[in-house]
Amino acid sequence: MRVEGNEKKIAADLLAHYDVHARRLPWRVPPGANGADPYRVWLSEVMLQQTTAAAVGPYFAKFTGRWPDVTALAAEEDAEVMAAWAGLGYYARARNLLACARAVAGEHGGVFPDTEEGLRALPGVGAYTAAAVAAIAFGRRAVVVDANVERVVARLFAIPTPLPAGRAEIRAATDAITPDARAGDFAQAMMDLGATICTPRNPACGICPLREDCAAFLTADPAAFPVKAAKKARPHRLGHGWWIERPDGHVWLVRRPGKGMLGGMRALPSSEWNEAPDATPPLAAQWRRVSEPVSHVFTHFSLALTMHHAHVGEDAAPPGEGEWWPVAEIGKAGLPTLFARAAQAVIGEAGIKERVENARF
Ligand code: ADE
Repeated sequence: MRVEGNEKKIAADLLAHYDVHARRLPWRVPPGANGADPYRVWLSEVMLQQTTAAAVGPYFAKFTGRWPDVTALAAEEDAEVMAAWAGLGYYARARNLLACARAVAGEHGGVFPDTEEGLRALPGVGAYTAAAVAAIAFGRRAVVVDANVERVVARLFAIPTPLPAGRAEIRAATDAITPDARAGDFAQAMMDLGATICTPRNPACGICPLREDCAAFLTADPAAFPVKAAKKARPHRLGHGWWIERPDGHVWLVRRPGKGMLGGMRALPSSEWNEAPDATPPLAAQWRRVSEPVSHVFTHFSLALTMHHAHVGEDAAPPGEGEWWPVAEIGKAGLPTLFARAAQAVIGEAGIKERVENARF
């Protein structure tokens, strides 16, 4: 069902609510204000993809503290940026972030393009980010649809088409309600509504500023929108990881290949991840297995990583490229969460905890 003719009312109701209830977030300017820093808006939008504002907060503070503008970020070494991103997940975002920063610094004199089209042409900037930055930083009218907006709009118009096919309809409906003025505030107001009131389960319709405008509110179950196609089960994969420790308290770390899962991140050596991975260790030693595998859920599969640990001689030379890292400093290696947890599992089990006084994760 489509509540026709109230598009303008929806934007007006939502903006009036936002003027009073906007979340205070470090990358935001107050409702109605102009002059948001495009660098901060872009950085926050990349970090906020698939990630909550609460999780992003400390990373945003760290990044803007270390790299206050896009030129500073562009000049940084890849490894430093990847390590600073560790724990935030979806690491392709960090690689794209650097590619984009370098394009802005190198080809645009450190100034972000101020149109959706110009932003979209930057490496690693997709339709969502281009629209969000154009609207929020530059006040352009752009149609901004993330998962929160998708849910709010699917409910407002009780869109019956299941996702993903329903996305085209949701986009058209979002376009219809996006105002010419204050499109950035409107987008952020929609996101706030989705994050705080129009939540996936148990939406708080009783306090929703759009209740009167909402077709799903008139149904028995507003939370049934957006309708989703039946989910496929997430496949399960296995893997083996190796903790190779020298007598001087250093462990062997590698860097994962640039493309693929956790690409470009520091890691413990590990096998392929599949149904029956090869468990041959990278070198001969007295290997011990950690009793419980480390489980980790990625978007498209879950993984059980069995860890093995061994002490090797001072002159051991594991194959391939890597570096010996002090175990006491393992918390500073910028390991992604899977490998930080694998290291913790080894340290806990191998009884070397006492020696690792500073090993914070
Ligand atoms: N999620 C993505 N972008 C956001 C923003 N600007 N404010 C709040 N939540 C968001």
